[in-house]
Amino acid sequence: MKILVLEDYEQMSLAAADLITAQVKEKPDSVLGLATGGTPVGTYKVLVERYQRGELDFSKITTFNLDEYYPIKPDDTHSYRYFMNDNLFNHINVPESRIHIPNGEAEDAELECANYEKMLDEAGGIDLQILGIGLNGHIAFNEPDETLVPCTHKTPLTESTLEANARFFTDGATMPDSALTMGMASIFRAKKILLLANGAGKREILTKLVRGGITTSVPASLLLLHPDVTIICDKDAAPKD
Ligand code: F6R
Repeated sequence: MKILVLEDYEQMSLAAADLITAQVKEKPDSVLGLATGGTPVGTYKVLVERYQRGELDFSKITTFNLDEYYPIKPDDTHSYRYFMNDNLFNHINVPESRIHIPNGEAEDAELECANYEKMLDEAGGIDLQILGIGLNGHIAFNEPDETLVPCTHKTPLTESTLEANARFFTDGATMPDSALTMGMASIFRAKKILLLANGAGKREILTKLVRGGITTSVPASLLLLHPDVTIICDKDAAPKD
């Protein structure tokens, strides 16, 4: 596992965007695994700027998002679909047909998850997976538990996640209490993984990730088993010695 500690959020976002840019330039038909949340917003902004300057072409890429609230309508402003359109997809030239996000209004959640996993298979797996990390150590919505689920599945959200994400629901809307999420095996099939973290609030969990051993009570710690993981964080989030 490589850990890159950068000065601040801006530098972290630039470094993450550089890795994604390199991936897309080297393999224009890359399959990118994407995350939502506060952390990758700066990275997506840099990618959009590079696209607008004509430096990057997303016309051949395929994307898979990690997760979506459940239930939620895709056009709900709190949905991850809306977030991705707003922060990235509406501003670059990735074809709609190659964008994948679990459908938060699917009637049959299990079937939706099975189909999502099948689409991931058919796309040949993910080349580069972007991850954030929850304060409780979750990646995607694989929440701490005695056992973790391998494939895409429906999961209840923990108190910690509901509290952490309440900041996105300040307009009085109720946050869904479940999500559809890629599982640990779906994530682990990615050839390369890039985990981003910023801010002092993430320092403790990053320290647990790198120094606390491998445990399902910190799902991100399983990343120690993956052969190609890079963590990019700002100095406030850097793991303690
Ligand atoms: C989002 C996701 C989550 C977030 C994590 C950190 O698609 O899968 O695991 O990456 O909750 O969220 P932020 O970046 O808001 O701190």
